[in-house]
Amino acid sequence: TEYAGLGEVSGKRVLVRSDLNVPLEGTTITDDGRIRASVPTIRELADAGARVVVAAHLGRPKGEPDAAYSLAPVAARLGELLGRDVAFATDTVGESAQATVAALEDGQVAVLENVRFNAGETSKDDAERGAFANRLAALADAFVSDGFGVVHRKQASVYDVAQRLPHTMGGLVAAEIDVLRRLTLDPERPYVVVLGGSKVSDKLGVIDNLLGKADKLLIGGGMVFTFLAAEGHEVGKSILEEDQLDTCRDYLRRARDAGVELLLPSDIIIDTEFPSGDRRPAPGVVPSSEIPSDCLGLDIGPASAATYAKALADARTVFWNGPMGVFEVDAFAAGTKAVAEALTKVDGLTVVGGGDSAAAVRTLGFDEAAFGHISTGGGASLEYLEGKELPGITVLEES
Ligand code: 3PG
Repeated sequence: TEYAGLGEVSGKRVLVRSDLNVPLEGTTITDDGRIRASVPTIRELADAGARVVVAAHLGRPKGEPDAAYSLAPVAARLGELLGRDVAFATDTVGESAQATVAALEDGQVAVLENVRFNAGETSKDDAERGAFANRLAALADAFVSDGFGVVHRKQASVYDVAQRLPHTMGGLVAAEIDVLRRLTLDPERPYVVVLGGSKVSDKLGVIDNLLGKADKLLIGGGMVFTFLAAEGHEVGKSILEEDQLDTCRDYLRRARDAGVELLLPSDIIIDTEFPSGDRRPAPGVVPSSEIPSDCLGLDIGPASAATYAKALADARTVFWNGPMGVFEVDAFAAGTKAVAEALTKVDGLTVVGGGDSAAAVRTLGFDEAAFGHISTGGGASLEYLEGKELPGITVLEES
């Protein structure tokens, strides 16, 4: 009846911050990976006799109730996965939350409505955040921080509440940090990093940091085109960040100087439009130096996919963040599939980080067990690898 770091929890109200921010289409959950990853901690606490109160966010509502971002479907799915009833409070800290928590018996679980329905959750103002954290803390006797995907956010339910209650790190956060530490401290070599996703500007800190640590850096996704443009190529209608051209040139130069192999795709899958609605994709493949002016790149091509797979073959440590193309559409999924496939064959530590790449792995039908670790954190794992301080972790160590 004890939870490591908290001691006796039986009969106590334990607030658990989980990251249940899952992709939804209407009220249908399209990937429940984060909910499944949150189950063990919640189950362990409930089995120990705690009255478990789960706080989480969904999307980015504007600090007020918004039905489109309700956690109700998520709470229902959590109940299915736990195999027990899960109560749902229709507000965050108001009458419904108070009554729901008061009605909990030992070993029962409740989920509060989306904490971001309250402006205090994400406020930059310490007092406003603190006021909301006080109300959250009043619902519980202890706090377990288990939402790894949000530990990089200085938010009331992640940061301030830990200053107000006896607290500990949950098992999921501990496991995630353990893996990321192995990546940063002394990775077995060759250490290969695969970065995708649409924007270079989201990955600047990570590229900066990894240029000194990784042996190979394979680039895919939308950010390819800013690199290609930085090398002087035409990229047609592809996504391009003009303001990052100099940065990309600098990365290419630094990689050369440091002896890091920075690979860009040699061929690209193109179309004349971004896939949407009923429009039938008409993919073509061109050398990456010959993207027609009326086309845009939507995936890495087959030659590049083969090159990337080969670059991964002898890796002993791999970190992958960000899809190689618009994998949600079959015609543009091959690059991401090839990288995922290559990762499953690596003899060593493979870490898939980031909501999108984790979802890609699952929706493309791969067995999660074939990967060493699938992180529940996107921004959080990137910020860790950048060497940034994560407020949700430091607060646990400080107070
Ligand atoms: C994520 O999806 O990366 C986390 O749940 C954090 O969400 P946020 O970027 O809206 O803070």
